[in-house]
Amino acid sequence: MKVTAHANINIALIKYWGKRDEKLILPYNSSLSLTLADYGTTTTIEFDKKYKKDEFVLDGKRYLEGDEYDRVVGQLDLIRKQAKFKSKAKIVSINKVETTAGLASSASGAAALTTSASKAAGLNLSSKNLSIIARQGSGSSTRSILGGFVEWTKGVKKDGSDSFAKQWFDENYWPQLRVIAVVVSFFKKKIKSRVGMKQTVATCPYYECWLKTIDQDLVEIKKAIKAKDFVKMGEISEHNFLKLHALMMTTKPPIIYWLPKSVELIHLVQAWRDEGLSVYLTMDAGPQVKILCLQKDVKKIQARLKKISGIRKIIELKLGKGVEYLDKHLF
Ligand code: PMV
Repeated sequence: MKVTAHANINIALIKYWGKRDEKLILPYNSSLSLTLADYGTTTTIEFDKKYKKDEFVLDGKRYLEGDEYDRVVGQLDLIRKQAKFKSKAKIVSINKVETTAGLASSASGAAALTTSASKAAGLNLSSKNLSIIARQGSGSSTRSILGGFVEWTKGVKKDGSDSFAKQWFDENYWPQLRVIAVVVSFFKKKIKSRVGMKQTVATCPYYECWLKTIDQDLVEIKKAIKAKDFVKMGEISEHNFLKLHALMMTTKPPIIYWLPKSVELIHLVQAWRDEGLSVYLTMDAGPQVKILCLQKDVKKIQARLKKISGIRKIIELKLGKGVEYLDKHLF
C-alpha cells in the first residue's frame, strides 16, 4: 500500500540545543515552536517485497547510501521493528523548503517520513507516538507532528517515552501572527546542528547557564501566548535566540552562523522597533533571519526588506497544521 503524508516546518521560539542521549535524541531542555503553513515536506512510501534495498528519492535525486540515506533507513527500521516485518521500501520526498539552508527541512522531512511510513506499515499511532518516532530521526521534527504552538517536553526517562510533542494552541488560535523568513544565503551550512550542539555541550562554559534559564522562558512565553501579548512573546523569543547564538559563538571551535547580511538585518529590525514597529527576531542554526510580526505590519516590513540589497528570498509564513495524509501520491 502506498501512503503519502505532508508535514510542515516549524520554527522554535524557545530553542532546543544539546542532547542528553545522542541515539534516542533526548534533549537537555524542552522547547516550544510554531508550526508554519505551506512549507514542508511531502513523502510517499511503499513497502514491498519487490524492493531489494530501501530506495530514497529526495527532490528528484536518488540516494542508496550516505548520511541522509542512513537517517531515513534508521527511522524505517524503528517502524519495521514495531510493525514486526522486514520489507524494504521506496520513499519519494519533495521539499518545499531550501534543504539545509536553515529553514528546518530536517524537521518536516522526518515528520512526513514517520507519518507516512507508520501508516504504510499498518501501525495506527497517536500523535504522541508519532512524535516519539520522528524525534529519533531529527529532534526538531518532534514538534512538526502537531500544528500551531507546540512544546517538545524534554522528559526525564532513559527510554525517551516521556519526551514528545504537546500542542498548546492549534493553528487557528492566532490568525494575525506571521513569521517573515529572510533568506540571506543558499549555501549549505558548514556545521550541522547535530554536530554543533554536541560541541556546545562538550565545550561551552555557558551551557549550564542556558539550561537554568529555559524553564522560566517557557513559563513566560506560554503566559504571553495565552494572553496574545505579542510584544512579550517577541521579547522572550528574541532573548532566547540571542542566548542560543551566544552559546554557539562560545563553543570551541566557535560556531558562527551569522553572515554580514544577518547582522545588518538584526540591526535594522531593532532600529525599526525603536521607531515603533512591532517586530522581533529569531534565528536557528544558519544565517537566515526570521522576523516575528503581526499581519497588519507585513506590507510595511516587506517594503522595507525589498529596499535592502543582497537578500535572496523573503517568505511570509502563517501558523500551520500538523501532519496530514494526502490522496495524491508522488509515484
Ligand atoms: O533537530 P535539529 O538537529 O535540526 O536541531 C534544531 C536546532 C535549532 O533549529 C537551532 C533549534 C530548534 O529548536 O529548532
